[in-house]
Amino acid sequence: MLEIKNIHKKFDDLEVLKGASIKVDAHQVVVILGPSGSGKTTLLRCINFLEHADQGQLVVGDTQVDFSSAKKREIREIRKKVGFVFQNYNLFANKTAIQNVMHGLIVVKKMPKAEARKKAEEALAWVKLSDKHDYYPSQLSGGQQQRVGIARAIAMEPDIILFDEPTSALDPELIGETLEMMKNVAKRGITMLVVTHELSFAQDIADKVIFMDGGVVVEEGTPDEVFNHTKEERTKKFLARILSGKTIQTNEEPVKA
Ligand SMILES: Nc1ncnc2c1ncn2[C@@H]1O[C@H](COP(=O)(O)OP(=O)(O)OP(=O)(O)O)[C@@H](O)[C@H]1O
Ligand SMILES: [Mg+2]
Repeated sequence: MLEIKNIHKKFDDLEVLKGASIKVDAHQVVVILGPSGSGKTTLLRCINFLEHADQGQLVVGDTQVDFSSAKKREIREIRKKVGFVFQNYNLFANKTAIQNVMHGLIVVKKMPKAEARKKAEEALAWVKLSDKHDYYPSQLSGGQQQRVGIARAIAMEPDIILFDEPTSALDPELIGETLEMMKNVAKRGITMLVVTHELSFAQDIADKVIFMDGGVVVEEGTPDEVFNHTKEERTKKFLARILSGKTIQTNEEPVKA
């Protein structure tokens, strides 16, 4: 379904991705863990060409491209197949919940307005926000905004949805509802690649857990393998620090402001 091979990405002379390779099969949920600054967000952004990787290959469904030489048409094709749920929701502040969900359907999928509205209504009902269609993001809680973000991704019917720390900006009491919603997305059989530090979510629903540090994949396996039979020292240290609730920074690269 999605494969990244040997991805490299530099920001000026800071090498953020150094040959990571990641594979997500259809209907799988794959969780990426890693210290702050280890390149997780950059990796997700490169998949959607929000950031341009210097080297490597990307396969999404039947579309295969070289990161460094992808054509505009190929990038459009990939963006249609890949949904994105952001840490800070990234909703249009001047559009209502339903207008936010309809936007991509009309602009990217070229759907007629009435059809887009129907699809958006279904998606909002699915995330239990039928009563908030006409609310602006500022009138919604963080958890509700993130559910609009999830509805927006689902409505596009992508092959895979990427989630970048979808709960890390939420108050603790709102994290649960968003994780529940993500579990429902998984139950629908939607392929998911999720960056999160919610170990219990990973334990419960991930098919595969990947630990990244310093721009490479350090360790990967089932949740049981990575959490209970950890092989690498760096992974052990990271997990211990998460469990003790400390902030974690990469061992490899200085973190720029
Ligand atoms: N647009 C940019 N320009 C320059 N440097 C960048 C840019 N985006 C990210 N970086 C740098 O790349 C490194 C990796 O950043 P990235 O956001 O991918 O890390 P992350 O693993 O997502 O961290 P976090 O857990 O804090 O979200 C960091 O050192 C960061 O400062
Ligand atoms: Mg990040």
